[in-house]
This record gives sequence, structure tokens and C-alpha cells, in this order.
Amino acid sequence: MKKLKKKIAEFINGQANASDVFYEQSKNISFEDSVEVIPQEWITIHFKTYPRMPKIVLEKALSKKIKSLSSRRSTRLFIKKDISFKLLSSLIYTVAGLIFEPKDMDDSRRSYPSAGARYPLEVYLIPLGVKSLKQGLYHYNVKENALEALLIEDMGEWVLACTGNEKWILDANFLIIITGIPDRSRIKYGDREFRYMLIEAGHLSQNICLLATELGLRSCPIGGFIESQIISLLDIENIREYPLYMIALGK
Ligand SMILES: Cc1cc2nc3c(=O)[nH]c(=O)nc-3n(C[C@H](O)[C@H](O)[C@H](O)COP(=O)(O)O)c2cc1C
Repeated sequence: MKKLKKKIAEFINGQANASDVFYEQSKNISFEDSVEVIPQEWITIHFKTYPRMPKIVLEKALSKKIKSLSSRRSTRLFIKKDISFKLLSSLIYTVAGLIFEPKDMDDSRRSYPSAGARYPLEVYLIPLGVKSLKQGLYHYNVKENALEALLIEDMGEWVLACTGNEKWILDANFLIIITGIPDRSRIKYGDREFRYMLIEAGHLSQNICLLATELGLRSCPIGGFIESQIISLLDIENIREYPLYMIALGK
């Protein structure tokens, strides 16, 4: 609360951005097991309708063009069996790499859209069961399509500490962490930057989940992580790079 008040004061004085205040207010998490009984209003799915207006019923014509659109599910059950480095490479390169790479890097493009091609997102990888890849923390170097090893060590304890003891995640083959560097977009879009960054994280992660499904992998997006654990692991305490999303992937 103290930190939030400080940020609001800084915002009023013009020393902080709207997104700094939003980030401060939204970074804490309360886990589902913090309530004894899950309240019904957390379960009921709402649908907006206009009952008094005319309606035209559509055909239930499920397109099979992208099979994973209908078969993707968030899965919390993985078989602990190593996947190949090739499978991992194929997923990471296709979702986050430079799939259009002309001579001028400023014209390069990726498979997910980015407002003004500012690409504020960064991708990190935590392999837990990938052949020929030691456990640890890796950063995806987009330009060179390479994994930069930032830390080589067993990640089990960190995974549990970061996710409030979600043991099923340990059976995943790898975790992807998506962070955002808002200033890359801010330079062009000002205060709308955070909005765009979050939308882009959605585009990227949906591509990850769909391609994973097509490649025979299961996935589960994880928004329930302890912010400070990611910040200290990635060593981004003192820079404007924010943890946005995590995805567990596995067989
Ligand atoms: C923003 C976001 C955050 C989520 N966070 C978690 C999470 O922390 N843990 C988890 O087990 N599932 C998480 N999920 C998965 C949802 O529970 C899941 O998408 C939802 O139950 C719908 O099921 P489906 O993905 O199989 O269609 C998250 C999904 C989204 C979109």
C-alpha cells in the first residue's frame, strides 16, 4: 500500500507513468487455496444477450482449418518424459523468432502482431525435461535464434516457490516466461503502452498454446505466479521489465 501511495504521488507530480501505478496495484496475487470454499460467483460464466432485439442464428460450422483451436485445453497433467531439443526449437522459433528476416532488421517481423512493430516482449525458458538442455534459466535471443544460458541449476524449488507449490508444474517439459519492456512501445504510444504490451502477450501466448497442441504438447497458461520470484530470478528488479505471463508445456 505504501509503495502504491508513493507511485500515485509520483504520478501526480509527473515522475511516474500511469502504467507504473497500474503495475504496482496489480502485481500481487491471492491463490485459490486462500479461500475455504470457492464462491459460486467465481464459477458462473456470464453471457451478454439482447433479448428484445432481432437475432439471426449462425450455423454451428466448426472450422477444422486450425485443429488446435477446438482441441486446445489447459492441462495440469503431464507425463514426465523428455522431449527433443528439435521440438522445443521448432516451437520457440515459430512463435517468437524472426520468421521474416530481411537485410534491414527494422523490417523484420514475427508470427505474432505487435503495435507499431515495437516488440516489447521478451521470452525466457525454463527447461525441466528437454533432451540435451540442462535445467536452468535461458533467455531467447531473437536476433540469433539462440538460447542464452543465464543460470544452470535445478529449478524445482524455484518453480514451487514461484507458483504457490503447484507440484504438477514440475512434470512439465518446459516453462515459458513472457516479460515486457514497456518503454519500447511507450516511445511511440505513451500511456497506451501497457495496454498494447498485454494484448501482445495474449497474441504470443495463444500462438504458443495452439502450436503446442498441433505439435502434440499439452499446455497450461499460468497467471498465478509470485511476481517477486520472477523478478529476482530474472534480475529485473531495477529495470522497467515486467513479468507478464507464464506457460507450462509438456507431453
Ligand atoms: C490470464 C490467464 C491466467 C491463468 N492462470 C492460470 C493459473 O495460474 N493456473 C492454472 O492452473 N490455470 C490458469 N489459467 C488457465 C485457465 O484456468 C483456463 O484457461 C480456464 O479454466 C479455461 O479452460 P481451457 O483453457 O481448458 O479452455 C489461466 C488462464 C488465463 C487466460
